[in-house]
Amino acid sequence: LPKEHSLIIEAHELLAKFYHHLLMNTNEGARALDYLLKRGFTKESIQKFKVGYSLPEWDFAVKFLENRGFTHDLMEKAGLLSIREKDGSYFDRFRDRLMFPLHDSKGRIVAFSARALTEENQPKYLNTPETVLFNKSSLLYNYYNARAHIRRQGNVVLFEGFADVISADSAEVKNCVAVMGTALTEKHIQLLNRLTNSVTLCFDSDSAGAEAAYRSGQMLANYGIEINVVILPDKLDPDDYIRKYGPEKFREHVIGNAQTWMAYKLHYFRKGKNLQNEGEKLWFIEKALVEIGKLENAVERELYLRQLSDEFSLSLEALVEQQSQMNVTREKKQQKNIDQKNINQQNIPQP
Ligand code: UTP
Ligand code: MN
Ligand code: MN
Ligand code: MN
Ligand code: MN
Repeated sequence: LPKEHSLIIEAHELLAKFYHHLLMNTNEGARALDYLLKRGFTKESIQKFKVGYSLPEWDFAVKFLENRGFTHDLMEKAGLLSIREKDGSYFDRFRDRLMFPLHDSKGRIVAFSARALTEENQPKYLNTPETVLFNKSSLLYNYYNARAHIRRQGNVVLFEGFADVISADSAEVKNCVAVMGTALTEKHIQLLNRLTNSVTLCFDSDSAGAEAAYRSGQMLANYGIEINVVILPDKLDPDDYIRKYGPEKFREHVIGNAQTWMAYKLHYFRKGKNLQNEGEKLWFIEKALVEIGKLENAVERELYLRQLSDEFSLSLEALVEQQSQMNVTREKKQQKNIDQKNINQQNIPQP
């Protein structure tokens, strides 16, 4: 490990410890602690996740790290400082915020995500910028803590945010990680795939969350990973849900009743559509037939075809025929593309 990397980690470990101390034991941190407790975080989970508080000062981290022998150059490379444009002087990047330490897959703190305590303070979460040790789209929050649980249970629950992970963990759902509000990446999938072949998506139940679940599911499906999707009611996110309905209901009725990937896709295609309308109905049926056609299991295919047939009062025969016609059309289109390519190649002028 290059010297610089271990110094960056050391700086984060020291700061995280101090931020945590400020939150738990000082008057300066009382307002932040109060915020967390009012939100329903327990002291136990605040300790487990080493949540902290950064003071509303311009040079707290700078001084703290200077005193321990760290150079400004290193602090800047660690993403802990910002620079004043007018004179090039330094100031703390994180001020007056809740500090969530971010651990890499080896359990070392490499970055922070810092939450504002009020709506006026934007952005809501301020993250460490990209550094030699931190890249937002290749880190999964709580991966290090959760890995043994994920292996043991043969499944991982994937959330959007920190609060969701912390709430789920205290609701005894320990096999959970979060992307940090970004899209799921190939790197994330590789990290998960080392541990399990089964992912339960549990995103916020707003439209952004629904889109993210669909896109993430498509990517995971390409890796042959088994996917289940949780659909939460009333625009709640998992953290909101646990607070409103309690841990037991979350575990049993939400995680325990996650939809299969196929069922989720059908739900997703239906959303915002008026299936009384002939055109939209046909569109939906075609979409559904394409997806059902992709299922490898014949019994499963029949099951979903029967559901469609029941719902729209169509005969199974008609659905199967439509499905094979669609296959023929698709093959014809593909053949046409190949033919067109050949023609285009023939038309290339000879030298
Ligand atoms: P959300 O807006 O759903 O936040 O963003 P949240 O997790 O529910 O947080 P609370 O409950 O309001 O505290 C989901 C995730 O997106 C990232 C964070 O990782 C957050 O947990 N995010 C969000 C940012 O990085 N920056 C932002 O300004 C907002
Ligand atoms: Mn969200
Ligand atoms: Mn959320
Ligand atoms: Mn929120
Ligand atoms: Mn939330």
